[in-house]
Amino acid sequence: MPLHVLSHPLGTHVLTHLRDKTTKPALFRTLSYQISLLLALEATRDLAMEDKTIETPLETITGRVFAKPLAVVPILRAGLGMVQPFQDIFPDVSVGYVGLERDHTTAVARSYYCKLPPLEGKRTVVVDPMLATGGSGAQALDVVKAAGAKDLVFVCIVASPEGVAVLKAAHPEVPVYAGALDRELNAKKYILPGLGDFGDRLYGT
Ligand code: PRP
Ligand code: URA
Repeated sequence: MPLHVLSHPLGTHVLTHLRDKTTKPALFRTLSYQISLLLALEATRDLAMEDKTIETPLETITGRVFAKPLAVVPILRAGLGMVQPFQDIFPDVSVGYVGLERDHTTAVARSYYCKLPPLEGKRTVVVDPMLATGGSGAQALDVVKAAGAKDLVFVCIVASPEGVAVLKAAHPEVPVYAGALDRELNAKKYILPGLGDFGDRLYGT
C-alpha cells in the first residue's frame, strides 16, 4: 500500500496552525479546507483520462478529459471538514456518508449512519482527518467496497504509524494520502503530537 505524505510548504504551514491549541474553530475550519484542497489535488493526480475531440475557435483538436466520475465519502463527523474543496474543484463529484464514532473508552468505532451513491466505476476517495488506530478507516473502506467501490484511495490530514499499518494489513491495495505522518498513539489512542480531537475542534464542541 503506497503511503504519500504531503510535501508542499503550504501544507506544512497549515498543519502547524492546525496543531496549535490556541487556534479557534473558525480558523481551524479554514485551515482544514486549505490542507484538504492540497490533498484533493494529490489524491487525484493519477485519475484516468480519455481523449475528447473538440473544436477550438480556430481548429479541431483532441484534448483529454476525465474517463470516470469521482465520489468523495467523508467519515462523519470530522470528515465533513474535508469535503468542500472536492466539491469546489470537481463540481460533478458525488458525495456519500459513512457515520462512525469511536467509543471514548475502547477507541473502537461504532457505525451509526451510511448513505452512499452508486460507487461502481467511480474513483472513490474516503476522507477522514485522523488515521489513529485505523479502525474507522478500515471499517469505512469495508463499507464502500461492499457498495461496489474498486478504485479507492484514503485521504487523511494526520496519520499515525499504527493506523497506516492497520490499513495496510486490511486494504493493502488502497493508497493512503496524508498531510503528515506523526510519531505514535498515546494510551488513549490519540495521535502524538497530533492536534487533539479534530471533530471537537472543527465544531467547537
Ligand atoms: C475521530 C476521527 C476518525 C477517528 C480516527 O472520529 O475523525 O474518524 O476518530 O480514529 P481511529 O483511527 O482510531 O478509528 P471520532 O470517532 O472521534 O468521531 P467524530 O468525527 O464524530 O468526532
Ligand atoms: N481522533 C481524533 O480526532 N484525534 C486523534 O488524535 C485520534 C482520533
